This record gives sequence, C-alpha cells and structure tokens, in this order.
Amino acid sequence: MAIHTTPTQVFTDQRPGTSGLRKKVGVFMQPHYLENFVQALLDVLNASDASGQALHGQTLVLGGDGRFYNRTAVQIILKLAAANGVARVLLGQGGILSTPAVSAVIRRRQAFGGIVLSASHNPGGPDGDFGIKYNASNGGPANETLTEAVFARTMVLSELRSSNAPDIDIDRLCVQQLEQMQVEVIDPVADYLAVMRELFDFDLLRGMFKRGFTLRVDAMNAVGGPYAKAILEGELGAPKGSVVNAVPLEDFGGLHPDPNPVNAEDLIVHMSAPDAPDFGAAMDGDADRNMVLGRNFVVTPSDSLALMTAHATLIPGYKDGLLGVARSMPTSAAVDRVAKALGLPCFETPTGWKFFGNLLDAGRVTLCGEESYGTGSSHIREKDGLWAILFWLSLQGATGESVQDLVETHWRVYGRNYYTRHDYEGIAVDVANALMTDLRAALPSLPGRAFGQRAVSLTDDFAYTDPVDGSISKNQGVRLLFDDGARVIFRLSGTGTEGATLRLYLESYEDDPVRQDQPVQQKLAELAAVAEQVAGIRKRTGMDGPSVAT
Ligand code: G1P
Ligand code: ZN
Repeated sequence: MAIHTTPTQVFTDQRPGTSGLRKKVGVFMQPHYLENFVQALLDVLNASDASGQALHGQTLVLGGDGRFYNRTAVQIILKLAAANGVARVLLGQGGILSTPAVSAVIRRRQAFGGIVLSASHNPGGPDGDFGIKYNASNGGPANETLTEAVFARTMVLSELRSSNAPDIDIDRLCVQQLEQMQVEVIDPVADYLAVMRELFDFDLLRGMFKRGFTLRVDAMNAVGGPYAKAILEGELGAPKGSVVNAVPLEDFGGLHPDPNPVNAEDLIVHMSAPDAPDFGAAMDGDADRNMVLGRNFVVTPSDSLALMTAHATLIPGYKDGLLGVARSMPTSAAVDRVAKALGLPCFETPTGWKFFGNLLDAGRVTLCGEESYGTGSSHIREKDGLWAILFWLSLQGATGESVQDLVETHWRVYGRNYYTRHDYEGIAVDVANALMTDLRAALPSLPGRAFGQRAVSLTDDFAYTDPVDGSISKNQGVRLLFDDGARVIFRLSGTGTEGATLRLYLESYEDDPVRQDQPVQQKLAELAAVAEQVAGIRKRTGMDGPSVAT
C-alpha cells in the first residue's frame, strides 16, 4: 500500500450547477474525470479558510443514492481522501446515504463536511446521469464561493494524490483502516431516524396505523426505500407493503425517479382507484423531494409549504412557532399569505436549496420550500422527502382531516394560488440562450401593457442579495408580475445534462371560493398564451407544447 501521485489533464467542464456536478455516467467514467473533481475539492478544503479551518485531520461523511457507478465512485473517493490527509470517513453501508441523511449525519457527528453522490431525480443506469456534491459542516450544500473555488482548481489541476490500497469492504458495519485514514461503515438510517424522533410524535402516528390508517409510499426504486421501510413500516407500524418500489436499484428499474404526477403516474393511478389508501407520497432518487397526495387529490408543492407553515405548531418539533419562512422565487406566493397572517418574516430566494442555508443558520427561518417538490426545515440543511411525508401524516393525525379537506379549507381561508410549471426539455443551447437574451431585452417595454383583463405591473431579471452575508446573485430568472397578483416566470434549468431546459412558471391568484376548483391547466391557459406571445417559445423551439407540465 502506498500513496502515489499521478499526472492529470484538466477537464474544462467541471463547474458545478444548481446542485453539484452532474454529467452523463459515461463522462464520469472517463479516466481521471471523477478523480480530478474530487482532488480539486480536497485541495480547496485543505487550503485553510479565513477561520483557519482545513479538512486535514478531520472527518468526512460519504454516501450516495445507489445509482450506477456509486460503488465504484465510493472506492475512488476513499483512496483520494486517504492520500489527502482526511482522518476519518463515515461511509453509509453499501455506499448508501440519502441526501437528507448525509446532512443529518454531518450535523449529528459534527463532521467537517460530506460528499453526496447523486444526480437527484435524473435517470440513472449506464446511460443515465451521475453527480457529486459537497456539503459543508452545517450539513448544507457548499456555497457558490466554495464551488467556484473548486471549479477554478479543476482548471489548473496537474496532479492526483491517491492510494493504491485494495478496495475496502463497504457492506459490513465495521471500522477499517485505509492508509492513515479510518473508514467507519455506518447504518445509513440510524442518525436520520434519531432526528425524526425528535421532531414528530411517533406515538400519535403509531396510533393512526393501529386504527387502520392506510398509505402508499412510492420510493421509485431509489434510496428513500430503506428509510421509508425502516421508519414507516418498522418504527410506526404501517402495514407491510405500504412502501413500494422500496429497494434501491442502480438504474431505478428504468423509472425516472422524479416525484411528480407525470413520472409517478403509477401512484396517481393507485390514489384515484376506488380502494385508494388514505394518503400517498413519492420521493426522488436521493429522497430529498416529495410529492404528497390524498385520495384522488394531488397537493401542489407550493401549497404544501403554505399548509405546513399554517399548521406547524401542531407538530412537536415546531410547537413554539416558526422563526420565518423562505421560498424560491418561482415557488408560488401561497406561503407569503400565511406568513403575513402569522406575522412571520418571509424570504424569496433564487432557485436551489443552497440559498436557504444562510437563513437557516442565522435563525431567520424554520421552514423553506421550492415548487420542484422540495420542502424542508431547520432540522437539517437539505430538503427532506420523508420528513415531509411524516409532517403530512402528523397533520392528518392531529386534525383528523383528510389531505383534500386540509387543502380546500386552506384555500377558503387564504385564497388559492393556481400554479403550474411547463418544462421545454432538450432545446438547443443557443436557441434557449437567444430566447432568454431577447426576452431580457424586451422587459423594459412590458410594464403597463395589458393582456386580456390583466396588465403587467413590473418586470425584472430576479436578483437576490443574501440578507446574511450580503452576497449578490444576479440573472436568476425573468419575471413578469401582473396587477392581479399573477406571475409568469422564465428561467433555464441548471441541473440538466442534455441541451437546455426552459422552465416556464405560471401562477394566478383566486380568492373567490366558487372559482377555486377549476382544472389548473385550464385556469392558467391565458397566462401560458401570454408567455408564448412575449417569448415565442413554440416558434423558436419547434415544439408545440411543453414536454412536461406539472
Ligand atoms: C431543479 C429545481 C430546483 C431544485 C434543483 C435541485 O433545478 O428547479 O428547484 O433546487 O432542481 O433539486 P433547475 O433544474 O431548475 O436548475
Ligand atoms: Zn433530489
């Protein structure tokens, strides 16, 4: 066994996106591709920061969503870590840790940081995607300063430091030695379960299942399965078989592990059957996203955040009230109305969970969420799929009301924010960029212009000044705000790996109860037409409509 250095060539495409570095598996499998990125990360972490903190001699957490290449990547990373001064790695058994679990382990074990191997909801398998992301000692995604420093390092990297020791056993719970480094293989569920126990009334939930409450949780053959089985069926006594597609598969069984009504269609079918269970939910590839459903009723993620905010004090972990709430800019303003009624600070951040980190760390918010099926709280620094499921179960347990009743009552009280997102996938990058450039140029001419009954009151390209550290993030999405509260937002995805994806977010507000039960796409068709008129999406892309509308 020896530590050795190997010369390497720069890859110029290793700038992390919305959530880490994501590429096709084939790209990651090129010689030195993963190695370069990890070496650059370790170099940056070893160059001590302003507070004198360096990785050298510290503990890292490591695990991933189990997708194809996860097990190989784990071995590569361990050997690089061992050669770069890491003292200890806490590795999820089998290389498995959900994204929320990584965050929980970092925080509970006071690790220096963690590496998450996941491309989240992107398809897996040899032809699918792979990804890697670094989380800092608060348990949350690295900030842009750090990710930019890693990118800069990848651009000048010339050498890898690694160990040529044999692979270690990643499946057995034990402590092993790799060069000077200890590798402790840990139970992937234990720390996470401990956090959930602190937040929720497990006795209440056990009682619900004893009295016959039924649910179907679709883990989509992804990493959420073992967590959902252990907690819902194991700890809480939900009927065996309540969690389906519960074994993580390297290719997610060919499913697209994105919990929305399009990709989790099987769940939608079950939840609209005559014998549907009381409650349904799905999680994504790395178990940080969630979709929740009642019988024949899908909850919009933006509404989910609003309802959680309205009812949070029913949950033991939040019984003393919330410090504030935050939502990403494209997420509907439903939560803003609740925050206003409760007198809570409400923050609007750019897309991506990393922007919530400072607010959570500074104690300015307790709950946060995104329209993209992500909700979470200050318990960790990632969104959390199973946490959201337990939250909604608890709301039903505490109120005795069904999901549909809870949501419809909410609309009566606060009004309804009709909401949809249209994705135009696989657009040529230059076409997408030209569309955004032209749209930005047209923005100044739009205020005051009427479209049907409504007029544009303000347009901008969203910019955010972080209230905690003052950092500024520009060009975060083009917004058209209307005088009746409606919004049309355009932005390009930062997580795709093929061409460009245009996301079009549409929202309108309805406070009249007799008009709160209309089909969403129908209600928002007028706004979709406005978007088409100002951006010419169809003409430019040659597509006759979005590839996905959720
Ligand atoms: C998407 C979602 C965003 C989420 C991110 C990571 O990013 O829109 O809300 O934080 O995935 O899960 P996008 O592809 O839009 O950049
Ligand atoms: Zn995810």
